Amino acid sequence: MAITIRDIQSFKTNDSRFVMLTAYDYQTAQIFDEVGVPIIFVGDTLGIFFMGYKTTIPVTMDAMIHHCQAVSRAVSNALLVGDIPFGADATTVDGIRNASRIVQEGGMHAVKLEGSKVELVARLTEIGIPVMGHLGLTPQSFNKLGGNKVQARSVTAAQALLLEARSLEEAGAFALVLEAVPIEAARTVTDSLRIPTIGIGAGPHCDGQVLVSTEMLGISSGPSPRFVKHYAQLRDTMGVATRTFMSEVANGEFPGKEYAYNWPLTS
Ligand code: KIV
Repeated sequence: MAITIRDIQSFKTNDSRFVMLTAYDYQTAQIFDEVGVPIIFVGDTLGIFFMGYKTTIPVTMDAMIHHCQAVSRAVSNALLVGDIPFGADATTVDGIRNASRIVQEGGMHAVKLEGSKVELVARLTEIGIPVMGHLGLTPQSFNKLGGNKVQARSVTAAQALLLEARSLEEAGAFALVLEAVPIEAARTVTDSLRIPTIGIGAGPHCDGQVLVSTEMLGISSGPSPRFVKHYAQLRDTMGVATRTFMSEVANGEFPGKEYAYNWPLTS
């Protein structure tokens, strides 16, 4: 049975912790779906981890659609959520048009959008597009925030976060990502909402946890934020396999007879 937004909400009611993982390509999405990841998320972090940009800001709607389509072709069970990239929800009208593209052309079941865009969340929910909110550190505001910094650090800022979270829930958001906020701020928001929170750098009290898959699997290069745990070191594994292939070709070991066709091909 395919996962629905109701299933995601019942994780909170049943007090079951769950995960969301980013995927940007067919193969990765297929693996996550096979092992039962309930939410597969085509994040605009594809700009950083798949396209080599420094931030998510250059990611366009067309890039999002391209990757959403690849992921949606791979998945039969998970709930699919696609990100609305920078600028694509600058107005409510833009947001409706672009969220519709993510669902209609990209094959996603729901969209995620950054910030406190209450009117847009309400309109999308009304027309049948489920929305996941995203508060705390919102990387599309990289230039405005002056970098990727921990948010809601003061009591006043934590109270403002709670008010924004409640407004998004009121507007109809079915879940809320909380990124890079202190443990206690995330706990207060989680305890105050009926909808599930999904934390990334928001501590252990969120209802679910999301990680960027290339970081979780140890494929990406460079330092990761403090909140990333590497569950594998696939970058090393891929490097070793590639070096072995190069040396076996150089020394004539590959391809051996078992990897080649004998003449005649038919008897
Ligand atoms: O785009 C993304 O991958 C995200 C996650 C970090 C939640 O927004």
